Parts: sequence; structure tokens; C-alpha cells
Amino acid sequence: MEKNKRWPVFGPAPVTFVLIFVMIFADFFGGDIVPFDQWMQQFSSSQVEEETPPQSPLARLVRGKDRRKLETTGFACDVAEHSIVCLADLPVRINTKNNITVYDSSSHKVQEETSVKPYALQKDKYLLQYITPVRIVHGDNQPPVCQYNHEVPAVIFSSGISGNIFHEFNDILIPLFITTKHFQSRVFIILEDYDPSFVAKYRKIFSRMSSYEVMNPAANRSVHCFPGMILGLKYHDNLALNPSDIPGGYSIHDFRLFLGETYGLKFTHVSQIRRPTLMFISREKTRKILNEDEMITMMKELGFRVIVATAEEARNVNKFANTVNSCSVLVGAHGAGLTNELFLSAGAVMVQVEPLGLEWAAAKYYGNPAPGMHVHYLRYLIEPEESSLTELYGRHHSVITDPESVYAKGYREVRAVYLDQQDVRVNIVRFRKTILQALKLVKNASLTR
Ligand SMILES: *[C@@H]1O[C@H](CO)[C@@H](O)[C@H](O)[C@H]1NC(C)=O
Ligand SMILES: *[C@@H]1O[C@H](CO)[C@@H](O)[C@H](O)[C@H]1NC(C)=O
Ligand SMILES: *[C@@H]1O[C@H](CO)[C@@H](O)[C@H](O)[C@H]1NC(C)=O
Repeated sequence: MEKNKRWPVFGPAPVTFVLIFVMIFADFFGGDIVPFDQWMQQFSSSQVEEETPPQSPLARLVRGKDRRKLETTGFACDVAEHSIVCLADLPVRINTKNNITVYDSSSHKVQEETSVKPYALQKDKYLLQYITPVRIVHGDNQPPVCQYNHEVPAVIFSSGISGNIFHEFNDILIPLFITTKHFQSRVFIILEDYDPSFVAKYRKIFSRMSSYEVMNPAANRSVHCFPGMILGLKYHDNLALNPSDIPGGYSIHDFRLFLGETYGLKFTHVSQIRRPTLMFISREKTRKILNEDEMITMMKELGFRVIVATAEEARNVNKFANTVNSCSVLVGAHGAGLTNELFLSAGAVMVQVEPLGLEWAAAKYYGNPAPGMHVHYLRYLIEPEESSLTELYGRHHSVITDPESVYAKGYREVRAVYLDQQDVRVNIVRFRKTILQALKLVKNASLTR
């Protein structure tokens, strides 16, 4: 399983590409990945309506009909465009002996069973294949006997897709914040498909989200009683939080404050950084900048202190978050490293080098979320002459002139050509203008504050 090579695929823009993806994926991965399709339809999607704020933090995770269902039966699911979150506001037994099975204690005439893959992006059939389903059993009169009793609800989600910082934040950590922040650490995390390096990497975040050690169910293999349960995490948007959506009230600003406190970040506004400092994210395998040295010389000539960061350094998030935060400008080619924009101070600038055929992904995953963070976003859209694909295929090949024709061949082709085969030789004269613009923004931020 090559996790670092995976790439987020689905979303609303542009429609043609998305449709093609959906078709292709249905082909590649079959239709049996989401086992609860029909079952899902029994639960309504969330509705926004005025009602009194609930007392129970669990109830904040559902609205309307689903909340009434939770209040009357003790069990309900929020089924939204992206995510599924199932809640039990009554005692549950969780058996971790073989995968995870949840027994709820609501009264059912007949025993019913279903399963959920606890992953925030239910639409992403590609990534969903790495998530082990959790069984939910309703109405079993003889559930297994508890070996451990817990005082706080369990939250169950999977780290099956870990390994890429974009997915780690976008699909797991931000959704975890959205779903459980208001429990004020009074939740017990059960991490399915437990990845020890993921837990170690984000230990600081986990220790603030829960007062308990993160459980590896496959190593624990016992029966646990909890007063309630949250299965799955709520998702809002790419590197974004929507304060009006369930559970209500959290914005990307709150998440960035949380990161600031968690990692002890020093700078909240770019004007606090004395000398203009630029971090360049150097990619080593794919989408490399072939004339890095020339680029760095130009940046230094403009007056920047330049920090060149590698993927290896970025893996130590505790340290790296602070390094990013001390920079006024973050520069990199389209890729997961740009997720580090989360650690920039307000008024800082993110510059994305957009290789051919990837403009929409560049905007969707990293560009569009920036303004919400009060980070300025500058695009550097390369010209065909700057792409190594031109050398490889020739200037008039459809790969260069008509990316949509490559998209029509499906995701694997797109991935192979535009993401894995393409390097960039930046036009220094043109790129200098973008960096100069970044410098102006940073200087202006200091003057006008
Ligand atoms: C656990 O789940 C995986 C993935 O669905 C499945 O292949 C495996 O057989 C399950 N193991 C048990 C013991 O049920
Ligand atoms: C299983 O989890 C319980 C409760 O957190 C803990 O006390 C116990 O030591 C764990 N057992 C193993 C084998 O990890
Ligand atoms: C400088 O900052 C001020 C205040 O934020 C803003 O109104 C103005 O447009 C900025 N000027 C430039 C050149 O960015």
C-alpha cells in the first residue's frame, strides 16, 4: 500500500472531471465498498432548524429529526454529503476481539446488524478501501460481558489513510476537532486501523483532545463498556470548518488557535516576524522544482531569509509547526506539504506553483482554504515551457494542449502523467514577480498594523 502516493480526488469542481472520476472509480473498485448504502437511506440527512441547544454534547452532533430520534431511542446517525456519524446516547459494549463490534442497549424486537466505515470522506471510494468496517449490533439480548468500564463516551475512527499530511489533517484531525472539541477531553479514543507512527506524530493533538491514551483495539482485544459512543467523524470541507454546521460554533480560526496553543506557536500575525522569512518546500520524488538553486538565489536577492524544508524535516510536526509559523511566506509546488499553511500566522502568504493539469486541485485543496485562515494566496500557474512534460511529450501533444483528454482516460492516467511524471523548471523572471508581490504583502502587513 503506497499511502504517500495517494491523492484526494473527489469534490464538486469541475463537474466534468468529477463525473469522470466517479465513473472510473466505480469501475476500478466495484460497488461493494459501502455496505450500508440502503441502510443509510433510513436516516435523514442533517437539517438546519432552530431548536434549543441540547444539554448533552452528543446531542449537539445531530439536528432535527435525527436529534429527536437520538432523544427517543438513544441511537441516531447524522448522514451528510460527506460524512456519517453514528451516536449512541446510552450504554454500549464495544468488543475489540475481532475488529470492532458495538452492541447498543436500545430495545429492539429483532436483532439488527449493520456496519460503518468510520472515515470522514464517505464519498472517497478509493481511500475508503483502507478502512475496516465497524459492526453495530442492535437488540442482542446477550451481549458479551464487560471487562472494562469507562466513564466517558468512546469515539471511534480509523487511521487507515494516514501517511500524507493533507489527509491526516483534512480527513482525521480537523474532523476530530469538529466532532469532539466540545467534550473538553472527556472522550475515549479508539483508533481503528491503528497506525503507531500517526499516533506518535500527533501525540500533542491527541493529548489535548482526550484525557486518555489512544486505544489500539487490535492490541487490546477485550470488551469495554461505555456510557455512550460516537462512531465516525464529522466533515465540513477541505481544510475548513463551517461554524453553522453540526455541532455548531467552530471555525477555522478556532482550529488555528487550538494549533497555536498545542504547538506553542509564537506568531499570530505576520507583522510580528522581524525579518521577511520564506520557507521553500523542496519535493524530492515528484513535482520537483528543477532549478531550485536559481530560485533560492532570486528569493535571497529580494531580501528574504530562505529556509529550505524537506519532507523528512516536516515529519517532526512538533518542531516543524514552529518553523513554519516563524515564516512570512510559504512556497511550494502543488502537494501535501502546503497543508502546513495551517501553521502560518495571519497576514502571511502562501505561494503555490501549479503544474500543468492540476489547477483545479491546486485551488480546491490548498488555495481556496487560505483566505479563511487569513493567509494571502498567490498562484504561480506554470506555462507549458516550464513543465518537464513538454520535453517528454512535445509541445503539441494532447498531454500539454488538452489535459481534459487525459482526464477522460481516468484517474490512474492523470496521476501517472500530471502528478508523478511532471517536474517544473520555473521561469525565474516571471516567478520573481510573484515573490515580489508576496514581499509587498508582507511589508504592507507590517506597515498597516
Ligand atoms: C476484519 O475486517 C477485515 C476487513 O473488512 C476483514 O477482512 C477481516 O476478515 C475481519 N476480521 C475478522 C476476524 O472478522
Ligand atoms: C485494554 O484497555 C484497557 C482500558 O483502557 C486497559 O486498562 C488495558 O490495559 C488494555 N489491555 C491491553 C492488553 O492493552
Ligand atoms: C495594504 O494593507 C491595507 C490594510 O490591510 C490595504 O487596505 C491595502 O490595500 C494594502 N495595500 C497593498 C498594496 O496590498
